[in-house]
Order: sequence, then structure tokens, then C-alpha cells
Amino acid sequence: MQEKINEIERQIDEAVKDVESSRTLQEIKMKFLGKTGKISELMKNMRDVPPEQRPSMGKVLNALRQWTEEKFGALEKRLKTIELKKKYADEKIDVTLPGRTTPDGAYHPNTLIINELVSVFAGMGFEVFEGPEIENDYYNFTALNTPADHPARDMQDTFYLSDELLLRTQTSAGQIRVMEKKSPPIKILSPGKVFRSDDDATHSPMFSQMEGLVVDKGITLCDLKGMLDEFARKIFGENVKTRLRPSYFPFTEPSVEVDVSCSECGGKGCRLCKGTGWIEVLGAGMVNRHVLEGCGIDPDIYTGFAFGMGVERIAMLKYGINNMKMLFESDTRFLKQFKG
Ligand code: DAH
Repeated sequence: MQEKINEIERQIDEAVKDVESSRTLQEIKMKFLGKTGKISELMKNMRDVPPEQRPSMGKVLNALRQWTEEKFGALEKRLKTIELKKKYADEKIDVTLPGRTTPDGAYHPNTLIINELVSVFAGMGFEVFEGPEIENDYYNFTALNTPADHPARDMQDTFYLSDELLLRTQTSAGQIRVMEKKSPPIKILSPGKVFRSDDDATHSPMFSQMEGLVVDKGITLCDLKGMLDEFARKIFGENVKTRLRPSYFPFTEPSVEVDVSCSECGGKGCRLCKGTGWIEVLGAGMVNRHVLEGCGIDPDIYTGFAFGMGVERIAMLKYGINNMKMLFESDTRFLKQFKG
């Protein structure tokens, strides 16, 4: 028996000699102390031992089991300590490192201006209507008193998708959609992208416009002027004035071009206003009676005014941007400057 015990002790010493993880140790432990382990098997064999030898045998076996348990216990403690130390080392966090920051976004200057314009006009009672970017020739031109062959079609270089469909060249197309559906009083604002085959230092094939339309009984050019004064003061500053110059658009009669007094020099004349003291900001006019008629609105009862402005132009004037291309290039060094 003693031989067997010695053999088991030797086997245990051999098995744990190179063990490096508490997990492997646990597996080895089971081979000896588990239910079917070698020591447990020996203990089961006690049944076959003559009764008078059992007490002494029992003592020896218990001693073996205790020795084994202690050996494994001590080893396990040592391995666990090493493993824990390694885990802590692996998980060590350097709290002095700078944190990882996610750069937060900001509104594009165009969006800022659109939001500001919408809020100024909403304050005057305008509702927002957004028309489609792909339009019929009818809404973009014909219904706006610009039939085929009309020379005013040359004012805008159009991207045609087919004989009938085109990328809208002006948000004015939305006016017709609104007047067809709604009867006066009408007071809408229509922001959106427009497209023209035009690309140079001051033109982009895609840009944004903001259209306005008011139709009701007794609307006059004075109402337009009053509203424009209010708009100019809110967007460009309290002391800014507006002036109307005669112009031509097929869908308005009379038509005007609207200037604001230069907010840079206060009207004295500077580089921004090219020495004139005035800066052109939008086109406008009284809705042409043919246009009203075409939409089923009686021009002898109702009158209206309309206006349309280039959003990029307003953004450039307001923020002092001298190159329109910057508004389309997504250069974060430029865009960062508009972070609120
Ligand atoms: N649609 C014109 C353009 O793109 C701008 C414009 C002028 C709009 C006069 C209007 C208006 O509503 O009344 O050049």
C-alpha cells in the first residue's frame, strides 16, 4: 500500500511541476481528488481491506488526501495571485491620457441662414411649402408666364431630363403648385435647391433659393416694400434700408430688383458694395395677372406679391464670405467657424 501511496505522490509532483494556470491545476486536481480520481478510487477499495487493518489504512489514506489537498490549495493560491496580478496589469488604465473626443457637428452656414430666414418670415405669418426638385416644364416655366420660345427662358440655362421633365431652375415653380391647391389668402415661403447649367467663380450648378408668395385682396407693392424693410432689418441689422429698382421677370408685373443698404459701410460706399452703397439681394414683384388667372385665381379680386432670393448670396453677405465655392466644398476648417 505504501508503495501505491508513494507512487501517487510522485505522480502528483510530476503532474504539477510545470503547471502555469489555475485552470489546468484544477483539471489535474480532479484526476486525483475527483469522484473517480486516483485517491478516491483507493478509498473505495477500503471495503476489501480486512477490518483490523482498516483504521491504520484509513489514517494513511487520509493523510495522503490531506497532503494532496494542501499541496493543490497552496499551488492554486499562488497561481491565482499571479493571474490576478497579470489581469490587473493588462487592464491598467492610464488616467492621465487625454480622453477620446468625438468631434461634434455644426450647422452648415446655408442651413443657418435658411433657419434664420424661415424664422423671420414665420414671425410674419408665412407658412413653409417645399416643392419638388424635379419639375414639369409647365410649373417651372409655362405657368410662370414663360411659354416655350419665350426669350426669358434664356435667362436660366436649364438641365432637361426629358421633353417634359427638368431640374427646377427656380423655386418660383412652387408658387404655382400652391396657388393651384389653395385659395387666397395665401402666404407661403418656399426654400429649396435649384439647378442651372452654370459654373464659374460666382455661380454653382446647384444652389438654394428662398421664395415667398402673398396673395389676398388689396395687396400692393407697398406691402412688399414694408415686408422687405422688416426682413432686411432682422437679417442685416436695424439701420439697414431697402430700395426697389425696376426690373423684368415674366411672372411679375411690375418687377423689381431689391437692394439693401450696405451693412459694411452704412451706405457710404466700400469694396463690398463696389462703391455704390447698395447691395442687390433679391428679385420680386406683383404677381402677373396671367399667372393668377392660370391658377384659377381672379386677378380682378385678388392681387399678390412674390419674391425670390439666393440663399448662398444672403449667407455670403451676412457672414462676409467672399467665395461662394466655400459653401460647397465641405472644408471643415471653414465650416468650424460657424460653430455656435
Ligand atoms: N425666380 C427668380 C430667379 O430665379 C427670382 C424671382 C424674381 C422670384 C421675382 C420671384 C419674383 O418670386 O417675384 O431669378
